[in-house]
Amino acid sequence: MYAERVVSGMRPTGALHLGHYHGVLANWIKLQHEYPCLFFVADWHALTTQYDDPRRIHENAMDMVVDWLAAGLDPNQATIFIQSRVPEHAELHLLMSMMTPLGWLERVPTYKDQQEKLSHKDLSTYGFLGYPLLMSADILIYRANKVPVGEDQIPHLEFSREIARRFNHLFGREPDFENKAKEAVRKLGSKKARLYDELRTRFQQDGDKAALERAQALLEEVQHLSVIDRERLFGYLEGTGKMILAEPEALLTEASKMPGLDGAKMSKSYGNAIALRETPEEVTRKVRAMPTDPARMRRTDPGDPQKCPVWQLHRVYSDNACREWVQEGCASAGIGCVECKQPVIEGILKELAPMRERARHYGENPGIVKAILADGCEKARDLAKETMRDVREAMGVEYN
Ligand code: TRP
Ligand code: SF4
Repeated sequence: MYAERVVSGMRPTGALHLGHYHGVLANWIKLQHEYPCLFFVADWHALTTQYDDPRRIHENAMDMVVDWLAAGLDPNQATIFIQSRVPEHAELHLLMSMMTPLGWLERVPTYKDQQEKLSHKDLSTYGFLGYPLLMSADILIYRANKVPVGEDQIPHLEFSREIARRFNHLFGREPDFENKAKEAVRKLGSKKARLYDELRTRFQQDGDKAALERAQALLEEVQHLSVIDRERLFGYLEGTGKMILAEPEALLTEASKMPGLDGAKMSKSYGNAIALRETPEEVTRKVRAMPTDPARMRRTDPGDPQKCPVWQLHRVYSDNACREWVQEGCASAGIGCVECKQPVIEGILKELAPMRERARHYGENPGIVKAILADGCEKARDLAKETMRDVREAMGVEYN
């Protein structure tokens, strides 16, 4: 019913690392060639947990956008913007809050989980409880049907679907839709009305797409119907009232295969990350310092790649021949760990070189980044405004 559209957001965490790249960004970069995409900095979401220390959010946001661009997000392919610069998200959030049952929010599993995990913060706030609803607004306002997210965000997506359904149920249908639709059918005149009914039945009972298309063509031709009657007849054909918000679907992002330098998940707070803008010297130093299979105390001790975090990086960066060389050389003590790490270092440097170059370009020209964001915000806003017009009308808060 609606054109395909992808939307996703990221909280501004500052400069990104290889874990972000191999997990989320590479996927976004692929999607931008396949669908119209909107990607934004979720700075309001950052405030839900960082309201007591908001100073870094702006800087983190700008650093993150530079890294998006450096990694290959293309402003000519995707719309890149900042959540707080599209205030319609806040308006939709507010209006939807009127019909959001408190229990639905309290039952989202991330609510209690995050409160426990971040127990040093007071997260018994209105804003934090509303996190999933704000996220729903981010998605529903673009009538996006595809939302690339990690596993941890799946409950929020499910929540967004339920909110869209509830909204459409409450506001998407005229109170007397069925009768008004039938009346509109009669206005087609008896011959066309009979044809319409027949085609509608064929579509609804047998899923006959051709029948649907014929009926739609028939409606296109009719001259004397009012706009609203036509709308009703289009909606009635497909068995829906007027759909105002579209139910989004999660596009599950596979967990990154890129582990941290110690084999655990890569994360800035674990100190095991390689930033996208890391210098070649730092990359080399960090990989050289990586722990290896503890069994290889001496160069002459054989090892087992399965017990070594360096092997995980070979799985990301090395071809089959190199991997065989590692397997063989490690088990027979034929190669040393310093040697073994070299192709990994080269793989990472090769991947990061163009990113560092682009990051430098954008870092030195903040005006370009600002212009990209201004353009993205404007495009996003145009789409958001369209949806808000329908939402306001449906909820009776339109004063024109
Ligand atoms: N909550 C998401 C996260 O932490 C970020 C986010 C905010 C988001 N709004 C969104 C993701 C809308 C997808 C769509 O990862
Ligand atoms: Fe790890 Fe390579 Fe050393 Fe084996 S040779 S322990 S895989 S670094």
